[in-house]
Amino acid sequence: MELIEKITSLAKKRGFVYPSHELYGGVGAVYDFGPLGVAMKRNLKDLWWKSVVELRDDVVGLESSIIVPPSVLQASGHIDNFSDPMIDCKSCKARFRADFLDVQVPTCTNCGGYLFSAPRNFNLMFKTKIGPMEESANDVYLRPETAQGIFVQFANVQRSSRAKIPFGIAQIGKSFRNEISPGNFIFRLREFEQMELEFFVQPDSSEKWLKYWKEERLKWWIEKLGINPQKIRARLLDTPELAHYSKKGYEIEYEFPWGWAELEGVQDRGDYDLLQHANFLGTPKEKLHSDLSYYDEESKTRYVPHVIEPSMGVERALLAVLCDAYLEDTVDGEKRVLLKLSSTVAPIQIAILPLSKKVSLVELSHKAEKFLRPHFRCAYDETGTIGKRYRRQEEIGTPYAITIDFQSLQDNCVTVRERDSMQQERISLKKLKSYLWEKLNPIELGQSDLDLV
Ligand code: GAP
Repeated sequence: MELIEKITSLAKKRGFVYPSHELYGGVGAVYDFGPLGVAMKRNLKDLWWKSVVELRDDVVGLESSIIVPPSVLQASGHIDNFSDPMIDCKSCKARFRADFLDVQVPTCTNCGGYLFSAPRNFNLMFKTKIGPMEESANDVYLRPETAQGIFVQFANVQRSSRAKIPFGIAQIGKSFRNEISPGNFIFRLREFEQMELEFFVQPDSSEKWLKYWKEERLKWWIEKLGINPQKIRARLLDTPELAHYSKKGYEIEYEFPWGWAELEGVQDRGDYDLLQHANFLGTPKEKLHSDLSYYDEESKTRYVPHVIEPSMGVERALLAVLCDAYLEDTVDGEKRVLLKLSSTVAPIQIAILPLSKKVSLVELSHKAEKFLRPHFRCAYDETGTIGKRYRRQEEIGTPYAITIDFQSLQDNCVTVRERDSMQQERISLKKLKSYLWEKLNPIELGQSDLDLV
């Protein structure tokens, strides 16, 4: 079985990801997230928000609406430009993205046919109606990126938070795209979540900030999520690869099981969006300056800020993390599947396992569980042999398992087992919380309370 198939099957079996509306035949490229998947998505979003918003004094948050009027997307260029070239197989009518088929030998991957229609542009946005009337005046779109909500609120956010350039506005939320060629499990979806930062800078500093954010984001993947540095890279895009709004940009790519593919974009959008909105609204030059431009008190100049945008998909990040963590090895002659997840994203951090269902062991285990739950993501499991329970936890990436045995009743100590090395240590219940806290939240190099004084 291919790696991506193994991950898809594990994800369903263990409750990370299920196909949506499966009982009714499913919907292409739309997925639901089970108990472990939703926990991991939440961890990914929290980690991103913490490093991009909370740990900085130059980024604020926003939550803008999913429903967008056509005028906004006309101004942003999405109605005219947000499309992919599409071709149809003349034999079986299957539809493909023209740029995805092998250009040397274009052969239908569905039926083997080789005659195709001429390429036509297919707009990727979902359109719907607002209100009770069917007229076209009531058309609205589901946003294809969260970014436009940020641009149209730029002036409100800047004024209300008295932010000074350089500063950023961050948003996490759903986006929708009617992709022609979805696929590779949760890599390309029709409904997905984005985490986007629009970072507004002085026009002549955009080169410096583009480089800064490309490096910051690469570091985040490696240091916060534990992604293998050999499998991630930043690639400068060639001009034809750039989106209609982008002047220059990088793709942060991961080596997925099918090859290198985009994980995150870091783009220099210049003043494209703010100017487009200002011009579309017909803002006279003087008014534009009071609306979407910025008066820089330090340099005593007024300008339309340029924008550097790191933007990524939560589900795509989840897939990369799962691919990076998946490992098969052999223990005592038996195959085991292991998710080597970093403790920051692991859905469960600690499993509490009584050696047997004896009441006294169960009682002490529940006591330990109650004590640990406020501090860590915990699970309690008493069914099956201890070996089977270790395997179950390894398969979902739980970094530590605590076993409570008969000896624990005597000496108030438990066995802590580390997932990857399988090494075991006996720890007293009194020290358990601080021991686990240190293991799961290693103090960053050079940071301690001592640095404060
Ligand atoms: N605001 C800029 C923007 O949306 P993009 O390159 O189209 O740029 C940014 O998307 C990121 O969003 C991608 O790098 C990817 O992680 C994620 N993404 C885009 N389309 C997606 C899809 N159909 N399914 C899942 N994730 C997607």
